[in-house]
Order: sequence, then structure tokens, then C-alpha cells
Amino acid sequence: MAKEIDMNDFSSNQVEETVVNTGKKMRIGIIGCGGISSSHIKAYMQQPDVEIVAGCDLIEGKAEEKFATCAEKFGNAEMVANAKFFTDYKEMIDTVPMDAVSVCTYNCTHAECAIYALEHGLNVLLEKPFTVTLDEAIEVMKAEKKSGKIVSVGFQPRFDANMQMIKKVVQSGELGRIYYVQTGGGRRHGIPVSWSETFIEKDKAGLGALGDIGCYSIDLVMNALGNPKPLTVSGTATDYFGTTPEAYAKVGKPECAEKFSVDDFASAYIRLEGGIILDFRIAWYMHLDTPGDTIIMGTKGSLRVPSTDCWNGTFRQPMTIYHDVAGVPTQTEVPLLPKTEDLWNRKIRSFLDACINGTEAPVPTSQIIYNQAILDGINRSSKLGREIEVEIPEI
Ligand SMILES: NC(=O)c1ccc[n+]([C@@H]2O[C@H](COP(=O)([O-])OP(=O)(O)OC[C@H]3O[C@@H](n4cnc5c(N)ncnc54)[C@H](O)[C@@H]3O)[C@@H](O)[C@H]2O)c1
Repeated sequence: MAKEIDMNDFSSNQVEETVVNTGKKMRIGIIGCGGISSSHIKAYMQQPDVEIVAGCDLIEGKAEEKFATCAEKFGNAEMVANAKFFTDYKEMIDTVPMDAVSVCTYNCTHAECAIYALEHGLNVLLEKPFTVTLDEAIEVMKAEKKSGKIVSVGFQPRFDANMQMIKKVVQSGELGRIYYVQTGGGRRHGIPVSWSETFIEKDKAGLGALGDIGCYSIDLVMNALGNPKPLTVSGTATDYFGTTPEAYAKVGKPECAEKFSVDDFASAYIRLEGGIILDFRIAWYMHLDTPGDTIIMGTKGSLRVPSTDCWNGTFRQPMTIYHDVAGVPTQTEVPLLPKTEDLWNRKIRSFLDACINGTEAPVPTSQIIYNQAILDGINRSSKLGREIEVEIPEI
């Protein structure tokens, strides 16, 4: 029997402690066979108790091609040898017996795929962002509750040792009462269109920089703070760069300017439960190196997390705690831990173990609903030009 995994347990060997029962195979289906599905398939291929039984993509032949490429590249052709292929996820779920699906579709179809899978008794590993709107996320949670199955949302940086250290520092009480947090990040010239253009189209991605990378920096701090409920949001989401051909000079795709219909920059001032202010900004494109470090300010000390690639768990410099020692302002460096190289293995293994043991999802919707409420709040506030209140019904 596999050991239960607790995301709040900071032991570095969560995955290694798992004992896998190879006798019973978990039957997995993949919905959406674009870029990120390769990481899912690769990680499943490393699990001894998995069989990938089906693949589906709206685009005819794409699932077959993805499975063939992964079999060749990752060297476990046997695991996908009997897979069936579909262009309609409903047909796949209706006809192939499965235990769980990875939903790797673009954001606008996350909710419908997850809900259909749950209604048909399947566990769901859902890629981030949770959904596009808060209403969709609520519908997924209702379906999850009704089904008795789990949905885990794809925030693999949570498994990184340095990311976990942020939470450990905050939860240790070393900083005292937290009252102000600044987070965010971004890329100087980095609108992601090199492998797929679905990220910049409103009817596919729904959200731009906010849904691609913004949700990661929000998760970084929300997870560290213990997921306080957002109460109000005043935000803006703009598109000054994505709509210009110059933004695609690096990738040689000026025509993308015509397609661009999401945000390339967003910022917000968010009031969280417990009197905490969250000051946030995210950019896909900017004339600046970084919009700032993550800082977590408390009544006994503050933590500075040097600007990170929050979307892949990369830390380049150590964190620093600013506090008084015997009344003297002092800085304490938190030693940088080695990068956790097997984030995807941990993401997939913890999901499988939760399915097998019937335990809580490793990255549960009950936490990520607040992330989604912030994304949704920024968009609503931006459209209305004023602060909005966040309302999340009891589910
Ligand atoms: N966790 C991570 O590190 C990470 C990294 C990149 C992307 N993502 C997330 O993964 C998702 C997919 O990103 P991507 O880069 O693979 O995009 P992509 O455009 O390369 O692939 C998405 C695929 O989903 C398919 N699809 C969409 N709706 C479908 C449906 N209803 N049924 C079947 N297939 C459907 C599309 O045809 C496309 O092939 C996005 O939500 C993105 O935010 C996560």
C-alpha cells in the first residue's frame, strides 16, 4: 500500500517513500495531446503501475503522433502499445475503461473535460490554470464533490524544495504575523507562441500571462500563507504588446499580432483574509528585467525571494530573512537547496497515490479555487474599472 502524501510535509523524500503495488495497473487517458502532454506521458512512463490506455485530441491524428513520439523518445513503448485514439473526449471516456485522465487541453476546455470525466467516475489531473472563470471552477468542484473522485491541479513547482522552504519559513512563525506580500514576475520578451499559438487566442486560452504564469506566482505565495481567502480585488489586465508585430520578432511570427486577444500584463491589489495585502504583477512582455522580487513582510521579520521563474521552480539566488537580532537589524541567508529535478515525477506519483488510496488530491481544488478567484477578480475588476468583492459559494 502506498504511503499517504502530505503536501504540507516538507520531508524531501516524499516520492521515494512510496511503495508501489505493480500488480494493479492504473489505466490513464490523456485529453489534449499538445506541448505539455509530453511531460505527463513521460512521467507516467516512469511509473511501474500505469498503463496509458487512450489519447484524445481535437486535431485528427495528433494523439497517435504524440504517443508514437513519446514511445520513441522516452523508451517505454509497451505502456502505450494498446492505446486507443479519439478526437472526441466524450467518446473516449464512454468507450475505454479508465481510472483517471490527465486534462492537458487549452484553458477554455479544462472545465468541460474535467466535469465529464468526474461524472463518469474518473479522477482528474487537471493542468493549470484551474479554469478560465471562477464560475467554471465552482462547477468543477461541484462535480468533484458529487463524484467522490479527486481533481489535482497541475502546479508542479509546489514539489520544489526551495518553493517548499518559502512555506516552511512562513509557517514556522519566524516572520510573525504576515501583513503584506508582493509577488509576480515575468519575461522581458516572452509571449509563448513558439510551439503553439493557442496561448494567445481568447477562445482557446481565455487568459494570457495571467493564466500562463500569473497563476504560478499567486500559488507560490498563497500556498506559503496557507491559502487565505481573497476578499477584494482591484486589478488591470492589458495588451499593449501582444497586439504589435514587433512582439514576435524573436520567433519570426509577426502575424500573431492579429490573433492576440488575451492579456500580456496584469497587476492587482488584493485584500486577503487575515488583513494581508497581496500586491501582484505579471508580464509576458515588458521593457524591464523583472517587475520585482517576491517579498513577504511580517511583524517579526520579512522574507525576500529573489525574482524566480515561478513557472518552473527555478531559483537562482538564495532567499534572505530580514529581522532584528538582539535589537540589531540583521539579514539571514536561507541556503539555496539543490533544484528538485523530478518535479513531474512527483506531480504524477502523488496524484496516482491519492487516487489509489482515496486520499485528498495533492494540489486540491479547495485551495486553488482562491487562485482562480483572484484571476477572475482581476479580469472583472479590469473590465469594470473598480475594485470588486470576491464571492465564492459554499460547495
Ligand atoms: N504545468 C506546466 O508546466 C504547463 C506547461 C505548459 C502548459 N501548461 C498548461 O497545459 C495546457 C495545454 O498547454 P499546451 O502547451 O499543451 O497547449 P497546446 O496548444 O500545445 O495543446 C493543447 C491541445 O489540446 C487540444 N484540445 C483542446 N481542447 C480539446 C478537447 N476538448 N478535446 C481534445 N483535445 C483538445 C488541442 O487541440 C491541442 O492539441 C494549458 O492549460 C497550459 O496552461 C502547463
